[in-house]
Amino acid sequence: MSNLNEKIRLDGKRALVCGASEGIGKSAAMSLAGQGASILLLARSPDKLAKTLANLPAKQGQNHAIVAADLGDTQKLETDVTEMLRREPPVHILVNNSGGPAPGLITQANQQDFADAFRQHVIAAQVLSGVLLDGMRSAAYGRIINVISTSVKEPIAGLGVSNTVRGAMASWAKTMAMEVGPDGITVNNVLPGYTRTGRLQPIFEARANRAGVDVAEIEDQARMSVPARRFAEPDELGDVIAFLASSAASYINGVNLPVDGGRTGSL
Ligand SMILES: NC(=O)c1ccc[n+]([C@@H]2O[C@H](COP(=O)([O-])OP(=O)(O)OC[C@H]3O[C@@H](n4cnc5c(N)ncnc54)[C@H](OP(=O)(O)O)[C@@H]3O)[C@@H](O)[C@H]2O)c1
Repeated sequence: MSNLNEKIRLDGKRALVCGASEGIGKSAAMSLAGQGASILLLARSPDKLAKTLANLPAKQGQNHAIVAADLGDTQKLETDVTEMLRREPPVHILVNNSGGPAPGLITQANQQDFADAFRQHVIAAQVLSGVLLDGMRSAAYGRIINVISTSVKEPIAGLGVSNTVRGAMASWAKTMAMEVGPDGITVNNVLPGYTRTGRLQPIFEARANRAGVDVAEIEDQARMSVPARRFAEPDELGDVIAFLASSAASYINGVNLPVDGGRTGSL
């Protein structure tokens, strides 16, 4: 008989969580650590990382650490960070997550905006998975979980560069899922809906500016567009990520999972 309580535990597993000092990444790190995993927290600001580290649950056998790195600097990521990861014991769980590309109309985006966002999201994921896959294969256990956006299913107005890069990331993940599935590794995408983090406010402000209305009005419209009539708390995303990282989710591979209170209309 299946024992779900045991299957969702992550004791003895190691996770690299990107964008882990705030928002959804931080909640993912907390949920994964709560299930027993040891966490490598990656983001740019060492101070914010140190604060998150201090709050991570840690029982005997769990070792957490921080890695200060810029996912947009894939050259340095490839040299310094991957070198460091190669010296470490295997990482079983990789959470690809980062700051979202700046809001803006696609007609006003330039070459650099696209190149920077592609590098920070898709190339960074390629570099990190490239160095971690061997360890996952030898452990016969791997989870690559990408935090993307519901724009993968329905592009969101006013997020031109983001919509484009999220689509690329979703295709990257599906292709990877097909290649590494035989090695006991799954690759899945979590698509957050409106989630109460620092990312949400600038998006609402940009919309309010474009429409010439109050931010509160935009927030109300957004809330009413969600069948649950509320925004997500970050830990509702973190818990889903911890589930996908566990052996309870071993037969889920290559999916786009909206965690959006039912807002996305497409099936
Ligand atoms: N919140 C939402 O409603 C929502 C909805 C749909 C999709 N999403 C997407 O979900 C992802 C996470 O969103 P969030 O709301 O949790 O964002 P957030 O609160 O702004 O947190 C972003 C995290 O990523 C780190 N980060 C940003 N740029 C980085 C870089 N170049 N290199 C390394 N780390 C970097 C930040 O730390 P440092 O600044 O210290 O590096 C921080 O820890 C984003 O891609 C976002 O677009 C969010």
